[in-house]
Amino acid sequence: MGQDNRVVLFSEHIELTRFADGEVRPYIPQDIAKKQVVLQYPLYPDPSEKLIELLFVVDALRRKHPQKITAVIPYLPYVRQSRIHREGESLSVEVIAHLLSTSGIDSMITFDVHNQSALSFFSIPVVHLSVIPFIASQVHAGKQTIAVSPDEGSVERAKIAADTLHVPLVVMEKGRPLDKGDAINRMELHEEVVGKTAIIVDDIISTGGTIARAATLLRKAGAKKVIVFAVHAVFAGDAKGLLEKADIDRVIVTDTIPRAASDLPKGTEIVSIKSLLEQALH
Ligand code: R5P
Repeated sequence: MGQDNRVVLFSEHIELTRFADGEVRPYIPQDIAKKQVVLQYPLYPDPSEKLIELLFVVDALRRKHPQKITAVIPYLPYVRQSRIHREGESLSVEVIAHLLSTSGIDSMITFDVHNQSALSFFSIPVVHLSVIPFIASQVHAGKQTIAVSPDEGSVERAKIAADTLHVPLVVMEKGRPLDKGDAINRMELHEEVVGKTAIIVDDIISTGGTIARAATLLRKAGAKKVIVFAVHAVFAGDAKGLLEKADIDRVIVTDTIPRAASDLPKGTEIVSIKSLLEQALH
């Protein structure tokens, strides 16, 4: 992408006003005609609200005739429901992919989607970046280290971490009740972990339930140390409190969702996505 012709816009550069009923009304003051616009628009917090904003912002941009719009959405919400578990549900990944693909965005950059199958629903090019290989620069892996996937959905991710660190992979089993997306009704560990340093690898810390349950189970089973490496620091509800109470030695997240230290469990380490994003944009 030619540097001179590029305009990088962050969400805070867009003038957003609202009508009294809450409808959003964006205004783009910048001259972007014939420019390659890189729009960095986090869809968190309030993913539904932010998504609507983004659709109108892109429409406003389009009407100023840019050459191209690349949207940078570091944390892509609505991709966790990537299959129908029971009749009557929405396939939200398909809906969000359709909305973004038809919004006027020409291409998109995102990080560590829950399941890479989500990308197949997009009809625009999506550059999918992963911070999982960064794990090697954050964690020292010794002979007793294992990478742990807290559920079957994170196996691919945890395997990349295990391969990067040259350590064995342990996969836990997790069950959720069909009618409550956030609840966990079953967590099982079938491997020997006595004396191990367990690195739990996950895409999202949302309620914190997955990580807290996995850490507790690993400790009970004799793990000496528990480290958490998760990409998206969603931290909904009391996730911070839950993780602070859990027996975890280190929590490492990234800034795909910008978080103040006070929003995260004490001592949380933050890995920046900046250099990876800059490389991708160049
Ligand atoms: C699968 O369910 C995901 O990979 C994460 O494990 C999950 O979204 C984390 O959510 P929570 O923190 O609410 O358990």
